[in-house]
Amino acid sequence: MRMILLGKPGGGKGTQATLLKEHLDVPQISTGDILREAVKNGTPLGKEAKNYMDAGKLVPDDLIRGLVEERLSQDDIGKGFIFDGFPRTLAQAEGLKKIADKLGISIDKAVYIDVPTDKIVKRLSGRRSCACGAVYHIESKRPKIEGVCDACSGKLYQRDDDKEDVIKQRIEQYEAQTMPLIDYYRKEGKLVTIDGDQDIDEVFNDIKRGLGI
Ligand code: AP5
Repeated sequence: MRMILLGKPGGGKGTQATLLKEHLDVPQISTGDILREAVKNGTPLGKEAKNYMDAGKLVPDDLIRGLVEERLSQDDIGKGFIFDGFPRTLAQAEGLKKIADKLGISIDKAVYIDVPTDKIVKRLSGRRSCACGAVYHIESKRPKIEGVCDACSGKLYQRDDDKEDVIKQRIEQYEAQTMPLIDYYRKEGKLVTIDGDQDIDEVFNDIKRGLGI
């Protein structure tokens, strides 16, 4: 299965991608995680991306396209992959099509996790993340020990872009640049829409049902 997870910032893409990658045994490709790692390591990509990310703006398409092309050239994608947070613009979707054509593959499904905007601030301001990629929430997904990751015992932290003013900017960027992708994948006959305003397990069950997996 080669799939894309679409949805608002904080809509649960990362949470569902983590469950799906276990279920399908395919890698999760999160452009956000790749960029945060690049920022942490101070690579040229990280240095260029940081200002955009801190401001809640999208990183330019040409940088994203390069990192996706490189990631898809690795040999762990034979059984498929889950894109989490990519594509984010029509140009990225067209770019993905070209990369996929070059590799002789195509995207099977785009899952749109639909969550009302008024729920987003609460989800993001209560999110706690771990460097290993695990994601928690102070109310809906608590770790066993407060502030400590269940998976790796790492210290949980709050992402810099999970502050209210940056969240507002991220939602604006989503509405202007990413929302058109819902129609794009609907027209391609690949869209599966899921009600994301339910418990994490219920969303996961609906995705599995929607994909027939
Ligand atoms: P990125 O890291 O992709 O952030 P995002 O899309 O804004 O999405 P999030 O990771 O914030 O949310 P999510 O949907 O994964 O939700 P989660 O599962 O964590 O991007 C960050 C930045 O990088 C961008 O702003 C941009 O600058 C740059 N970037 C990345 N990709 C790019 C691209 N392709 N092009 C250009 N720029 C790019 O859930 C959120 C919280 O809610 C968690 O606490 C979770 O526990 C909780 N939760 C999840 N599901 C539920 C539920 N069903 N009920 C209750 N709580 C829930």
